[in-house]
Amino acid sequence: MTDRPLVEVSNLEKHFPLTRTATEYFRGQARRAIHAVDGVTVTVAPGETVGLIGESGSGKTTLGWLVARLHDPTGGSLKFEGRDIAKLEGDELRYWRRNVQVVFQDPVGSLDPRLKVWQIVGEPVRAQYVMERRFATQARARFRGRLDQKEERARRLQWNRYLRDRARYERWYRRRANARAIRAAGRGKPPQSGAAPPAGGSGTVIPEAPAPSPPVPARLTKQEVEAMVPLPPLLTRREVRRQVPLPRKPSRKQARARFPAPPRLTKLKLRNRVQAMLPTVGLPVDCLDQYPHEFSGGGRQRLSLARAFIVDPKLVVLDEPTSALDVAVQAQILNRLVELQRERRVAYLLITHNVAAVRYVADRVAVMYLGQIVEVGTVHGVLEHPVHPYTKALLAALPVADARRRRMRFRIGGDVPSLVSPPPGCRFAPRCPFVVDRCRAEDPRLRVVPGASGQQVACHRAEDVQDIAPESLLTSVDEPHAAPPGTAS
Ligand SMILES: Nc1ncnc2c1ncn2[C@@H]1O[C@H](COP(=O)(O)OP(=O)(O)OP(=O)(O)O)[C@@H](O)[C@H]1O
Ligand code: SF4
Ligand SMILES: [Mg+2]
Repeated sequence: MTDRPLVEVSNLEKHFPLTRTATEYFRGQARRAIHAVDGVTVTVAPGETVGLIGESGSGKTTLGWLVARLHDPTGGSLKFEGRDIAKLEGDELRYWRRNVQVVFQDPVGSLDPRLKVWQIVGEPVRAQYVMERRFATQARARFRGRLDQKEERARRLQWNRYLRDRARYERWYRRRANARAIRAAGRGKPPQSGAAPPAGGSGTVIPEAPAPSPPVPARLTKQEVEAMVPLPPLLTRREVRRQVPLPRKPSRKQARARFPAPPRLTKLKLRNRVQAMLPTVGLPVDCLDQYPHEFSGGGRQRLSLARAFIVDPKLVVLDEPTSALDVAVQAQILNRLVELQRERRVAYLLITHNVAAVRYVADRVAVMYLGQIVEVGTVHGVLEHPVHPYTKALLAALPVADARRRRMRFRIGGDVPSLVSPPPGCRFAPRCPFVVDRCRAEDPRLRVVPGASGQQVACHRAEDVQDIAPESLLTSVDEPHAAPPGTAS
């Protein structure tokens, strides 16, 4: 693996604004928002698999969609191979998308029922072909000087208009300054002759000499000001075109040789390419003309995989790729994913509720709770020695084939706080059995905990709770009020 991460997400935010109620509208209250992703920092290295686990509604899918730029981030930075992609748009964004593909959470909804297999799987290839053609055309046009000339002419026209506006402003300013100076000089005039002498005193009063008044400036006429500040002529488009003559253009043939268009993508070529892709994901080659409803759940998931892998992406966001499948098919899909990763050195962001799948496929794992990452580290560290109380609770809640667990119940209760107005401090505080006052006041930051397995944890009491086993968050149905060791209350 290279040092530079493939994906660098830093303090990423996605807030979905809510529609205001009539009362809120008339009271002039600000729009509230769902804080689906709030200050997430995570990286994915080339060829690495990062698992993303957490309970329903914690923002896993939203984070995956942000990384694939299917959502625009509200804040934070999003880099792909060191390039900031948070602000990409238009053709550039469409072209960049070949790097990141998504296998969606709902395979039925993500496959168009009116399209055949070759059309569905070939869609990204066609989209990329269109973009490559467009970029080649633009590059040829630029090479032949057309775009550059247009830009230069537009610049000249704009500059000329700016000079004219500036001269107009200068004229207006001079006239105003002149009028002001005249008014100011008028206020400083000496008193009129025949005014009464100052009262009091007797005898001859020698009046004080009047202060010398400032000279009254001459009133400038409009014509005089215009003569002082001449207006530059407003250039017409034709004049600009004459000023910026087109240089001798390279011929179309030369441009085509320099920037060749991608080879034409015919229907036959596209079908052949899709046909070559299908066995890679375990689908038969003769299903090109079938519709998605003719496939089983596993078949549809494989179709989604084929569509994602056909453009050789560098990162695939796998959103619950095995959630609708039985255990045997899950294993087949996971095996196929591992093989594909080995062959193509693609990175995965694996979003799932299936901790076993993460254990099997992932290199690192991040745990999300209410739009934030609460623990991130190696699979061994996070899943074998969890430190954050929420990770412990998540692992304790997993069904395990153990006869002793039959009479055990999960004891983390309480309501999940609203994402519209998340509580201050730690978001897990309302449900955490280890909560202390500091947790409700101060937002815990991700940090490496001494003595843990190297993972980063966002918990104030990480040192105190790291040795508590997840099973202690279970309680026997016979003793419902047993408290785990280290509990605050
Ligand atoms: N387009 C949207 N508009 C408004 N709110 C949204 C939108 N997409 C997601 N949300 C909200 O963001 C929150 C996180 O949703 P998300 O789908 O990312 O959760 P998740 O962790 O993937 O859940 P699950 O495990 O059930 O798939 C939810 O409260 C959801 O209602
Ligand atoms: S910071 Fe406090 S409330 Fe949050 S998980 Fe840690 S102990 Fe529990
Ligand atoms: Mg989801």
